[in-house]
Amino acid sequence: RSVGIGRAHAKAIVLGEHAVVYGAPAIALPVPQLTVTASAGWSCRGPDDLGDVSFTSTGSPSRPLMTQASASLRRLIAEFTTTMAVTDGPHLDILIDGAIPHGRGLGSSAAVARAVALALADLHGVRLAEHEAFDLVQTAENVAHGRSSGVDARTVGAPAPLLFQAGEAEELKPGCDGLFIVADSGVVGRTKDAVELLRAGFQRHPGAQDRFVGRATQLTDEARHALASGRPEELGSRLTDYHELLRAAGLSTQGIDALVEAALDAGSHGAKITGGGLGGCMIALARPEQAGEVTRRLHAAGAVQTWVVPLRGPAEGG
Ligand code: MEV
Repeated sequence: RSVGIGRAHAKAIVLGEHAVVYGAPAIALPVPQLTVTASAGWSCRGPDDLGDVSFTSTGSPSRPLMTQASASLRRLIAEFTTTMAVTDGPHLDILIDGAIPHGRGLGSSAAVARAVALALADLHGVRLAEHEAFDLVQTAENVAHGRSSGVDARTVGAPAPLLFQAGEAEELKPGCDGLFIVADSGVVGRTKDAVELLRAGFQRHPGAQDRFVGRATQLTDEARHALASGRPEELGSRLTDYHELLRAAGLSTQGIDALVEAALDAGSHGAKITGGGLGGCMIALARPEQAGEVTRRLHAAGAVQTWVVPLRGPAEGG
């Protein structure tokens, strides 16, 4: 095959971010309308060119993504070549095309890595088992983010909401309808910095890690039961409580707090920052009939973009 193609989508964390790095559970949601496609092909640019790789990206994620991502993607490609025992071709050209904003807690780095892993597999005519795709994405994520829990790597390839804990993922079956509204503050937040900030705080304050992880686990467990048994108000209130937890840990921003406030004022069940924090996106849960008003108020409060994701996919949502 002369060209291989791979695709992946964005994700949003409903609850459990950061605590999941310490082994707590997290609830994560695929955002299927934001996708990235990678194509991989070989070209020969001369005898010195063998085994090299170049990356081009179109649309968004754009240049800044590629400069940051190329080290992690190079590691992924090296790992793919070793573990799949394939032989290097001549110059490898990778083209990345997608619309996932970078550095907004939407899993763009994991989605790009998954798309590239699948494109390489397609190019070489091999089938990647799900755990192999996950391991390759994690190889890249650990370069991009330092220590990463794997929740992004799982969710960017998942068709339904997930409960993720310690590397294991289980599909969740929401017991009610509702809409998640994801809003981009337009400010880049680096997950690696946020993870390190929290870790440094835990080192300075003995007992803080246990308190944070304990509270996060409690909120996520309660949210999981509310989701399964169809109690959206309760699920929403756990979202807002989790926002408080992350805000108290210094991971929110004034811009995100204003968006959370706007979503709550507009009558949503709950709202919080989502993903790494220090900027990026927030997520709100609303009744379907309220979603228009919540979205309007989020834009008025400074959101640069919003996306609506049904709690239940179109197939089950009815
Ligand atoms: C990033 O989407 C979620 C974090 O918990 C980091 C991780 O789980 O690797 C902040």
